[in-house]
Amino acid sequence: MKTPLLRIEDLTVIYQTDLETVHAVNNISLTLNKGETLGIVGETGAGKTTTALSIMRLLPDRTGRISAGSVYFEEKNLLDLSEKEMRTIRGENISMIFQDPMTALNPVIPVGKQIAEALILHNNDHLTRDQIEDQVNQSLELVGIPAFRKKDYPHQFSGGMKQRVVIAIALACRPKLIIADEPTTALDVTIQAQVLQMIKELKLSLNTAMIMITHDLGVVAQTCDYVAVMYAGEIIEYGLMEAIFDDPEHHPYTVGLFGAIPSLVSECERLYTIEGLMPDPTQLPEGCKFKPRCPHAMTICDQNPPLIKMSETHEIKCHLFNQKKVSL
Ligand SMILES: Nc1ncnc2c1ncn2[C@@H]1O[C@H](COP(=O)(O)OP(=O)(O)OP(=O)(O)O)[C@@H](O)[C@H]1O
Ligand SMILES: [Mg+2]
Repeated sequence: MKTPLLRIEDLTVIYQTDLETVHAVNNISLTLNKGETLGIVGETGAGKTTTALSIMRLLPDRTGRISAGSVYFEEKNLLDLSEKEMRTIRGENISMIFQDPMTALNPVIPVGKQIAEALILHNNDHLTRDQIEDQVNQSLELVGIPAFRKKDYPHQFSGGMKQRVVIAIALACRPKLIIADEPTTALDVTIQAQVLQMIKELKLSLNTAMIMITHDLGVVAQTCDYVAVMYAGEIIEYGLMEAIFDDPEHHPYTVGLFGAIPSLVSECERLYTIEGLMPDPTQLPEGCKFKPRCPHAMTICDQNPPLIKMSETHEIKCHLFNQKKVSL
């Protein structure tokens, strides 16, 4: 039996500035089981990072606000927790890897000390100094960095190595969930492949669940069990990787995004560009948000489409599939 680790229900997030209200995430629901990896893909501004920051409760204080929904982690609604309780969850249970390793590392502290700090900050087991030292060594070796380099500063590492250090920090407390927001985008292509391979192996050996946010379809194909495609703050297609490959039916946006789906693994390593722009998130249209760009747009698309179950493991939010609804 699969055990749900994270369950997002009807999450809605807005950014309120003096001038405007940005509808960044609109009513999304997701489930992630223990040890599984969910890929979130979609073009820039789709709401991927906002979703991640909402789970961590790290939205910018003054502007970002979760206006509706719940985020259950092991059946506890994170949105009900105090900031102190949430700090315990961060790092100990859920950690996040950001795109740019330099913003995540402190340039004036040796990397080993930064890993030790993460351990101490979240240490409920009252580890001894020696135990902390051991864990720092282990964490570095886990990501392929020899332990003797713990005394080095971030600038003494290459970009790929820095990202490995960031991953070591994220793993230090053995979280149950890691959220990686474009973890390899800032790296050279060859280094990207190495870091990804490492993430994949670590995830397997530690049985950590993961949310992998990416523009890169190769990354999704290599690392993910499930995929959620986001568009204008909504999840418009969601499914098991294999279901996405096997099922010939897809949301028109996904078709545009992925090009030809069957070649996803073999050839297509980048997102296709689709003509037109995503709607302005301060003035979202009624109904289907993709309608203005959709080659199959119909009158009914002025109404919000339901999420239609194509199979047990594949859902599409599009009126085109209304007739094909599977009764489960
Ligand atoms: N702090 C903020 N204040 C106001 N609007 C914001 C803020 N952060 C994000 N947004 C807006 O919210 C929407 C969703 O942004 P988000 O960063 O979540 O997208 P994304 O899918 O992560 O994009 P990318 O692929 O470029 O990282 C965008 O329209 C963005 O401009
Ligand atoms: Mg982002």
